[in-house]
Amino acid sequence: MALISSCTASTLKDAATSLRSGNLVAFPTETVYGLGVDATNKDAVVHLFQVKGRPSDHPLIVHIASMANLGKWAREIPEYARKLARTFWPGPMTLILPRTNLAMDFITGNQDSVGIRVPSHPLATALLTEFEDQGGLGIAAPSANRFGKVSPTTADAVVEELSSYLSPADLILDGGPCEVGVESTIINCTQDFPEILRPGAITVTMISDLIGLRVNQITTGSNKSIIKAPGLLQSHYAPKAKVFLSTTPDLGDGFIALADIPTPPGAIRLASPKDTREYAHLLYQALRLADSKQLPNVIAIPPTGDDLAVAICDRLEKCAYKG
Ligand code: TXA
Ligand code: MG
Repeated sequence: MALISSCTASTLKDAATSLRSGNLVAFPTETVYGLGVDATNKDAVVHLFQVKGRPSDHPLIVHIASMANLGKWAREIPEYARKLARTFWPGPMTLILPRTNLAMDFITGNQDSVGIRVPSHPLATALLTEFEDQGGLGIAAPSANRFGKVSPTTADAVVEELSSYLSPADLILDGGPCEVGVESTIINCTQDFPEILRPGAITVTMISDLIGLRVNQITTGSNKSIIKAPGLLQSHYAPKAKVFLSTTPDLGDGFIALADIPTPPGAIRLASPKDTREYAHLLYQALRLADSKQLPNVIAIPPTGDDLAVAICDRLEKCAYKG
């Protein structure tokens, strides 16, 4: 595995060629780092699942450079989904749509739907554009962590997660820390009304204001949706430290809270975000810091509100210690 710390047009071209030959390329997006493979190459996808340690029937998001290729992967796209795509792409949003034959079972986990996203990080855009120029149709990329673990938001975190599992020909592209810091909003667009399967930076309010339709939000542990989304498992995104929400830390416990909440005596401050945007940006780094300091416990005080706070609370609830 090679870590490319300053990407040029020529390294991106080589990375795209490497993807076309079936290798893995981890790359930055505005949400978290993704571990990319050619979405039409079954052997490469099998290798990806081995590296992630993820069950092979879990669906992957296909990343494309622009809306131009959407029709290759998805059919029967409702008008509200087109509107969402026109407004929020490129950006931190994934649409689940009825699939075409191009989206094979090894991508969709045998479902009739496919997840599609157009990311906005300049390196992701450049890599996808080069990949499509070389004849590629889409890059399947889950978050670049081992299954069930915290998503990486820096290239160093990808190295820490995956270096011992990647092959010599695989690459990690460094694009600095991810701006948003939590994974994309996933919206099920296979029904008359959109349904949020995973909250993210594109919020319920942003969606309902745009399309003027009711928006359902699937909550942790709810089984209202028949669609398979492993991010909906109760335990996910977990560091080694036990995470507790809104309790009082003991001596030597880690502590994550908004900056205006003082650090309780004896606790080790892991992040002091000034607002919810910064909270999301710093959350996964703070959880990784707890593990690098070998802290047994982390106490997090979740933010409140109906913006990115919803996504932060969702991730915190999923990584919280269940006893
Ligand atoms: O921000 C993100 O979405 C990042 C970056 C790299 O793009 N990717 C990401 O991928 O978070 P992953 O695989 O870690 O999480 C994708 C989630 C999974 O929970 C998966 O089950 C769900 O999307 N998903 C993908 N395709 C689906 C489908 N057809 N139906 C339902 N859920 C789907
Ligand atoms: Mg993930």
